[in-house]
Amino acid sequence: MNGIQDGVAVVTGAGSGIGRRTALRFAEEGASVVVADIVEDGGEETVRSIQDDGGDATFIRTDVTDEDDVDRMVEEAVDRYGGLDFAHNNAGLEGDSNALAEHSEANWDQVIDVNLKGVWRCMKREIPEMLEQGSGSIVNTASISGLTGSGGSPYVASKHGVIGLTRKATLDYADENIRINAVCPGIIDTPMVQRAGEDNPEMMDQMTAGVPAGRLGDPEEIAQAVVWLCSDDSSFVMGHPLTIDGGLTVQ
Ligand SMILES: NC(=O)c1ccc[n+]([C@@H]2O[C@H](COP(=O)([O-])OP(=O)(O)OC[C@H]3O[C@@H](n4cnc5c(N)ncnc54)[C@H](O)[C@@H]3O)[C@@H](O)[C@H]2O)c1
Repeated sequence: MNGIQDGVAVVTGAGSGIGRRTALRFAEEGASVVVADIVEDGGEETVRSIQDDGGDATFIRTDVTDEDDVDRMVEEAVDRYGGLDFAHNNAGLEGDSNALAEHSEANWDQVIDVNLKGVWRCMKREIPEMLEQGSGSIVNTASISGLTGSGGSPYVASKHGVIGLTRKATLDYADENIRINAVCPGIIDTPMVQRAGEDNPEMMDQMTAGVPAGRLGDPEEIAQAVVWLCSDDSSFVMGHPLTIDGGLTVQ
């Protein structure tokens, strides 16, 4: 993809699932990658996979709910690789899936803090770096839960929020050569979904049967879209929530 080679990418939540695949794809396209995750083992494993394939990556332990961690993530990307061209703000968690009145305030706060405020914290630190170098491209992970009411209420609210934040940030920086988009994955075969399947295998079968494509998505199918949205091949795409769901929300 055009414009990725020799760039510098930061991916949050890169120790697992969609983030890991995006980090690998950036590296396969020739970018240097900062692998950021709160879980060290997963992050280190992603770095090893990239390095085994001949790519360049560094793990930085980052909790996206901690401003100092996010500062350090961006600082180390710039110190080590000389700039910041691409960011995939992807760290997220599902939270409880019960009905609205049954959510604890602690669960509500945690899901919003990671999924929504975490994306804001990352952009707040990434954008000044991109402004300084004169260009940049950001992709935030939303969800089809940002377009529908499917999922726990804080999760749904957080993902609607990510799409709104993506649109607002686009308007703030579109004329400064910074593009900001979002991806809205459907049901993707990652540890997040596998955990739900372990709790309730029947529900998983029903969910899979409900996808018009007849299968779950592969994290690679999201990674491809993220790297394309960061590349020059999508140069006039701005503020767009790209749905990648095997037709699930078309029904
Ligand atoms: N898998 C799906 O079906 C699906 C669908 C729509 C959206 N998403 C979104 O995609 C993103 C990635 O999910 P996934 O399916 O790969 O799940 P996953 O659980 O495999 O990966 C999520 C990663 O985020 C990390 N993380 C969690 N809290 C963090 C924090 N505070 N700071 C830094 N890292 C943190 C986890 O350690 C983990 O490595 C999430 O934002 C999720 O909401 C997933």
